[in-house]
Amino acid sequence: MKVIAAADKNWGIGNKGKLLVSIPGDMKFFRSTTMGKTVVMGRKTLESLPGGRPLKDRDNIVLTRNAGYKCDGVKVVHSVDELKEALEETDTDDVFVIGGGAIYKELLPLCDEAYITRLDYSYEADTYFPDLDADPEWELADEGEEETYYDLIYNFCIYRRK
Ligand SMILES: NC(=O)c1ccc[n+]([C@@H]2O[C@H](COP(=O)([O-])OP(=O)(O)OC[C@H]3O[C@@H](n4cnc5c(N)ncnc54)[C@H](OP(=O)(O)O)[C@@H]3O)[C@@H](O)[C@H]2O)c1
Repeated sequence: MKVIAAADKNWGIGNKGKLLVSIPGDMKFFRSTTMGKTVVMGRKTLESLPGGRPLKDRDNIVLTRNAGYKCDGVKVVHSVDELKEALEETDTDDVFVIGGGAIYKELLPLCDEAYITRLDYSYEADTYFPDLDADPEWELADEGEEETYYDLIYNFCIYRRK
C-alpha cells in the first residue's frame, strides 16, 4: 500500500477537521495519482470532503467503528483486519491511504511508499503525519523541484521504506 499526504514543516496535516491549506497544484497531483485506484480513509476525512461524498472515479473504502455507518458509493470496514479482507483481490500498489491522522498512523506500518507534499511553512495544526525524517525505517527517495503557490514554497517528495 502507498500513502499520500500534504504535511507542513512540523508534519502537521490538519486543523479543526480541515486541511491546513488548499493548493491547486497539490490537488491536481493528488487527483492524478489516485485516479482509478482504491483510496482508504477514516470516517472523519470522508466527512471533510465536499458534501461528505466519496471521491469520484476511485474505489472508496472508509474505516469506522460504527457498525451501522452507511454512505452511498463507499465500502465501509470496521477494523484493519476487515480492511485487509476487503483488499484481498486488489493489487496493493493500487491502494492509497489518504488520511487522516489516525488512519495514517495505523496504516503506515502496512505501507512501503509515501507521497508527501512538503509545505515549507508552520501552520497551526492539531493533526499530524508521523515524522518520516526521524523514522529510521524510512528514507527520502526523491525530492521534486520547489513549487510555489503565492508565497508558499512546497515540493513533492517520495519516501520509501528501507
Ligand atoms: N494533509 C493531508 O494530506 C490530509 C489528508 C487527509 C486528512 N487530513 C486532515 O486530517 C484530519 C482528520 O484526521 P483524524 O485523525 O481526525 O481522523 P481520520 O483519521 O480521518 O478518521 C478517524 C476515524 O476513523 C475511524 N477509525 C480509525 N481507526 C480505525 C480502526 N482501526 N477501525 C475502524 N475505524 C477506525 C474512526 O471512525 P469512527 O469515529 O466513526 O469510529 C475514527 O474516528 C482533518 O483535519 C483532515 O483535513 C489531512
